Formats: sequence, C-alpha cells, structure tokens
Amino acid sequence: MKVIDLRSDTITHPTPEMRRAMFEAEVGDDVYGEDPTVNRLEAMAAGIMGKEAALLTPSGTQSNLIAVLTHTHRGDEIIVGDESHILWYEVGGASTLGGVIMRAVPNDSRGRLNPDDIERAIRSKDIHYPETKLVCLENTHNRCGGAVLTPDYTDEVCDLAHARGLKVHLDGARIFNAAIALGVPASALARNVDSVSFCLSKGLSAPVGSLLCGSKDFIERARKFRKMLGGGMRQAGIIAAAGIVALEAMIERLAEDHANAKRLAQGLAQIKGITLAQDEIPTNIVMFRLSPELSVVEFAESLEKTGVRVGLRDGRPFRAVTHCMVSSSDIDEALARIEGVCRKLRSRA
Ligand SMILES: Cc1ncc(COP(=O)(O)O)c(C=O)c1O
Repeated sequence: MKVIDLRSDTITHPTPEMRRAMFEAEVGDDVYGEDPTVNRLEAMAAGIMGKEAALLTPSGTQSNLIAVLTHTHRGDEIIVGDESHILWYEVGGASTLGGVIMRAVPNDSRGRLNPDDIERAIRSKDIHYPETKLVCLENTHNRCGGAVLTPDYTDEVCDLAHARGLKVHLDGARIFNAAIALGVPASALARNVDSVSFCLSKGLSAPVGSLLCGSKDFIERARKFRKMLGGGMRQAGIIAAAGIVALEAMIERLAEDHANAKRLAQGLAQIKGITLAQDEIPTNIVMFRLSPELSVVEFAESLEKTGVRVGLRDGRPFRAVTHCMVSSSDIDEALARIEGVCRKLRSRA
C-alpha cells in the first residue's frame, strides 16, 4: 500500500538531480566566505528577489529570527499577524532570544493585516511605551490556508510602515507558490519590503535551507547574527547545490501542486461528513473539518491506517498539503481512502 503523505510539503525528498549536484558540489569554508556554491546560491537568491544580497540559513525559523534581530533592539516591539508562523510556531524565539515584544493584530482569512489595525498598533513616542520597529507579513500564509498576498497589498503595508519609520520583513517561506498562483515574479511580491526570507526545503523539495534577502548592509549585519545563533555552516555548498537545482528546476512545477490541491478540495467537498475550512484554494494547502457527529480522533486513527497522512494540530482543521511527491492519481486514491473512512465512521455514528 502506498503511503500518501499530505502532512506538509516539508516531507519532500531531494530529487535525483539535487543528489547529483550535492555529490559534485564545489565547496569551501563558508564562514570565511569561501564556498563558491553557497556564494552562487546567495547571488541567485538576491537576483530572484530583486535585493542586493542574500544569506543562506539552515531554516525558515532561523531566517525569520535573524531578520527580527537585525531590524530591532531588545525592548522594541514588532507587529505580527495573530495567525502568523512567527507568532505560533517559532517557539517565541523573537521574544526569548531577540527580547522583542510581539504585538499581534488580526489576520483576515486571506492572510492580510488590516492597514488601519497596523496604524493603530504603532506606538506613539511615550516614555511608557516600547518602540515599534517592524511589521512582519507572511506570503503564502500557512495558517490561512496558503493564502496569497498581492504585490499591491504588500506595497500598501510597506508605504504605511515606511512613512512611520518602521521596516517590513516578509516571511516568504512559500513565496514561489504565491508568485506562481498570481503569475508574477517573486521579486514583485518583495519589491518594497526591507527583508524577505524563503525556504528551499518546502515545495521546492531541497533537503535543507532558507535564504534571507535584503540590502548589502542588512545582510552583512544578518551574517553576524547567523554566526551568533550557531548557523555559520562550513562546507555548506553541499546544501546550496541542491538549493540551486531547486531554484532552477522546481519553481514552475508548483502549478501542478496547486492543481492537485484544487482537485483534492473538490473531491473532499463531495464527501459526506467533510466540509472545507476555506472558501478558495489559492495554492497548495487544503484545510477541512469533519461534521460534528464524526469523531476527529477516530477519523485521524482510521485514516492513518489506510496510509493517508494529513496534518492535525489541537483544535485546528485538518490540513492537507500537496507537493511533488504526490501525483494527481495519488490525490484520487487519497480521496477514495478518505471517503471509505468517512463511510465507516458514519455507519457507526
Ligand atoms: C510560513 C512559514 N514560515 C516559516 C517556516 C519555518 O520554516 P522551517 O521549518 O524551515 O524552520 C514555515 C515552516 O513551515 C512556514 O510555514
């Protein structure tokens, strides 16, 4: 029985082309700036994002943390979405390690922060207040079902933030999904932000790595924070080689994942006992709920036994993420298995 793993696009394995590139990678000591493959990947990333420079980091979490550390000082405040990855899933690193306060404003269902809410959250000068330094956006938005922020919306937030002397960091872990969904270059989604991070190890299928991009001065300072966090990697060209393949060969095909996510959502909507938790499926994330008469625990256990794996986190809808290790016929097979589990549970309800 084939396991169809829809928990996350992070479970994707390096492709044969990546493994070959890793094997053959030219390497050096990257802490000395001497790894030619890392240097090439960083230059590529900066070019793709339309920024002056880029920094390879081990993870999206570390890229976001380095961005916060570089844009702020201890005791500052940053504005984040109340559904943002930085707030929910990065172990509070911005606060514990960066010493900043995370001020949450509501995300709407499309992953946006209302500009009026941002305005209201920016502190005025007052001896009682921390200083607001940074606004963080997320594109695509993980907890908002892979929602996409448009270039115009991002520009609007940047204009507002910059007018008040704040910087903007974009958590673009899945920015290429957004670019493909909108049919725009990724650089258009990041053109006015002060920093943007993106991941190689999600839908792009590389084994490890994220890139933080920004101005030359910003990246120079960020490099020092990466070292402080223990993220200075030596012959990291091994990782970078896979990243280069990811950027050259894996971006355009994300459209297939989006088509498969829509196929999955359409199929789920037909299954008695399941409702979609999203109005639309913009990219590769599908969230769904069970009707109240079906037990979440029983559904999760029974589904796992059929070899279909989906994400489940306390009280949240189920999450299914499409990626390059799941084909459209796998989607049909997964739907058949999900339908079977729902039928069995309904017969007992
Ligand atoms: C939106 C977003 N940002 C950041 C991250 C963190 O990436 P990593 O798992 O590489 O630390 C993730 C991971 O899923 C994510 O979805």
